[in-house]
Amino acid sequence: MTDQLEITDAPKIVIAVDGYSSSGKSTMARELAKRVGYIYVDSGAMYRAVTLYALRNDMINEDGSVKTEALIPHLRRLEVSFEQLPGEDGVQHTLLNGEDVENEIREMKVSKHVSPIAVIPEVRERMVQLQQQMGLQKGIVMDGRDIGTTVFPHAELKVFVYAGLHERARRRWRELSNKGMDIRFEEVYANLEERDRIDTTREVSPLVKAEDAIEFDNGAVTHEEQMEWLIKLFQETIERIENESRG
Ligand code: DC
Repeated sequence: MTDQLEITDAPKIVIAVDGYSSSGKSTMARELAKRVGYIYVDSGAMYRAVTLYALRNDMINEDGSVKTEALIPHLRRLEVSFEQLPGEDGVQHTLLNGEDVENEIREMKVSKHVSPIAVIPEVRERMVQLQQQMGLQKGIVMDGRDIGTTVFPHAELKVFVYAGLHERARRRWRELSNKGMDIRFEEVYANLEERDRIDTTREVSPLVKAEDAIEFDNGAVTHEEQMEWLIKLFQETIERIENESRG
């Protein structure tokens, strides 16, 4: 297990980690949160949970289009939260209206339908509202697509992670195969390619790097190198904020 950093007296900040699907941003964000004792929020899991809700309630047509009018009235009552189970070091479970849906939201059936759900302005509005509530106390690392641009435009630290499509597909395929899912590499590749297209071209909060985000190429580095870079950046940010507050 990695050691936690000694930062008890340091000011708490908001950290936004954005980037492409399967770029490794969640792993980086989750581990950073653990190291610095912050809350970690996987915002993609929230869009996945809404997608699962829509699938279960027959709100997605055969052709993949969403029955938006049917879904919208449900959004206000839809609660997505997270919990950590005792004994599971740092692993977070996503809860949809209190039910643990962590495994189900990672399945391909959800990946296939999540992008059309995530383009619906009302869905984004509700998710952003929930995400902003989670960040009120600061001390949070959130990963996603629009965290540094829309959810927390004033985040003290913003990171934008990228990696080539082939590398990302390889990682994702390995992850799913390790979970016992029987899936072809080509299917994972095509799904990522399509999600990239929708994520970057949608009208509301498309995936773009915030102007003040720091880019990180996660293509050819080891996990240790990633974390060393990120922790150093975190420490520099805290130092900068402390210096600024001293005047
Ligand atoms: O990070 P992920 O692949 O689990 O995210 C699933 C989908 O959710 C992704 O295809 C785009 C969408 N998403 C989004 O639109 N905005 C976010 N902040 C996070 C995810």
